[in-house]
Amino acid sequence: MTQHQETALTQDTAHPAPQRIGVLRETFPREKRVATVPDVVEKLRQLGFAVTIETGAGDAANFSDDTYRAAGAEVLPNAAAVWQAADIVFKVRPPTADEVALMHPGQILIDFIWPAQNPELMQQLADRQVTVLAIDALPRTLSRAQKMDALTSMAGVSGYRAVIEAANAFGRFFNGQITAAGKVPPAKVFIAGAGVAGLSAIGTAANMGAIVRANDTRAEVADQVTSLGGEFVKVDYEEDGAGGGGYAKVMSEGFQAAQRQMYAQQAQDADIIITTALIPGKPAPKLITAEMVRSMKPGSVIVDMAAEQGGNCELTVADEALVRYGVTIIGYTDLASRLAKQSSTLYATNLLRLTEELCKAKNGVAVVNMEDDAIRGLTVIKDGAITWPAPPLVVAPKPAPSTATAATPAAETKKKGGHGHGSSGPLPAKTLALLFAVVALAFWGIGAYAPAAFLGHFTVFVLACFIGYMVVWNVTPALHTPLMSVTNAISSIIALGALVQIAPPGTAGTGRPDELIRWLALAALVLTAINMFGGFAVTRRMLAMFRK
Ligand code: NAI
Repeated sequence: MTQHQETALTQDTAHPAPQRIGVLRETFPREKRVATVPDVVEKLRQLGFAVTIETGAGDAANFSDDTYRAAGAEVLPNAAAVWQAADIVFKVRPPTADEVALMHPGQILIDFIWPAQNPELMQQLADRQVTVLAIDALPRTLSRAQKMDALTSMAGVSGYRAVIEAANAFGRFFNGQITAAGKVPPAKVFIAGAGVAGLSAIGTAANMGAIVRANDTRAEVADQVTSLGGEFVKVDYEEDGAGGGGYAKVMSEGFQAAQRQMYAQQAQDADIIITTALIPGKPAPKLITAEMVRSMKPGSVIVDMAAEQGGNCELTVADEALVRYGVTIIGYTDLASRLAKQSSTLYATNLLRLTEELCKAKNGVAVVNMEDDAIRGLTVIKDGAITWPAPPLVVAPKPAPSTATAATPAAETKKKGGHGHGSSGPLPAKTLALLFAVVALAFWGIGAYAPAAFLGHFTVFVLACFIGYMVVWNVTPALHTPLMSVTNAISSIIALGALVQIAPPGTAGTGRPDELIRWLALAALVLTAINMFGGFAVTRRMLAMFRK
């Protein structure tokens, strides 16, 4: 069997026995996360797997042994028993040498591995003849892989927690307040690097009421910053920071000098700086100098999320919170673990989605299909053979924009044959002119022959269509739902017709209406009133969601 063939890790492929997933208590100092949670245990069992947990594995994340037992997991008294029983092992931190020694051939390990940083560990694992899926090696740009993207889940949690740590160390409110005791200005937060963690921090700080500014070398994130309530601060230097795969590249000296100047200004103004800037495979860029820290207001806070990669701030010490020049500099490297229940739940869900991909037959047997781009990317060791790094993904070339002159006769025939459904390009000039002539003729006919009363109504109708078109087409797509709701409410104008019918004799000048019509008018009035008041109320609530 070659490594590029599908392999089920069972002896009998015709009637494979269900496999056992083992989950261990993390041994890394201060690590509180756990690789699965009780809710996910149930779903893993629905896929046909048996689940075994080391006793106390979820304690630090507030998942007791009993909750795992209630979900159908077997709780074993020690790690060795789990390593021995499991066909597939779920973990968070890379295994230690002692843990690797407990592995047996044929076992599958799903875990953060960081193969580039851990060549020794990779060799030890390969020597054990195991298969390793490194969750950090997932090809993140594959949209199908996003549900398994634990890096994104963890970065999101860390960004949130960074703001909470900053708020904890900061001596003031985030939001501005006007109280009887005086006016409190909102805190100013500057975020360096607007990747997944940075965007999460921007959203969190903006929701807490702070004024948020952010910068990134990749100009494409500017819109995302704005949409989360932040302001994108540009460096006054033209250079594209995109380095491929959604990641950044090392910038030129000229850019770095201009960026330092801008950061120096932000440091003087900001109360809180959260740095998240990273470049894959490189030490973290030094963005905040000691001089900038010295220029900050006393009581300010820096949370350096890049501390593990050397830090974005010159004064950061990894895993410590220290005070320099009156500024608290936090370099915690375990931010996701500090929100263990949340991060464990997200991580467990990412691993569940991966398990679903590995076990499409839902028969409790994992199949490591090396033909699948996502699985191939994740698999760093296959049955003892190191398969990392995966070959680059072959991205299907984007179809070239079709122009009238470039279109081949074959393509034209295909279009005419009706295979191009969904294509909605602009109409050719000839058709447009013909359409215009027909509409003009129709209008002339109506003007010349229609009765005068109809003409009045028709003019109002045409104007209403025109104004409606101009108004609606300029509304941001995000506001289309409240727009529908308010137009629905406005359509209650038909209530006027009902009022005319219900009015007492003489007042509406239409004579006494038939009793049945009056009752029908009353019913119409009640129904349109619900439509009208309900419509306006719902619109108000929807618009409130867009307001800060
Ligand atoms: P990361 O953790 O490697 O970097 C964090 C941020 O720091 C990046 O936005 C980067 O541009 C920025 N940065 C690097 N050097 C900088 C400097 N000198 N000054 C200022 N900023 C600097 O990146 P992360 O958060 O893991 O992901 C990066 C991007 O990849 C994200 O924007 C995300 O949208 C994208 N991504 C795309 C996915 C997809 O297409 N499915 C999946 C996951 C991420």
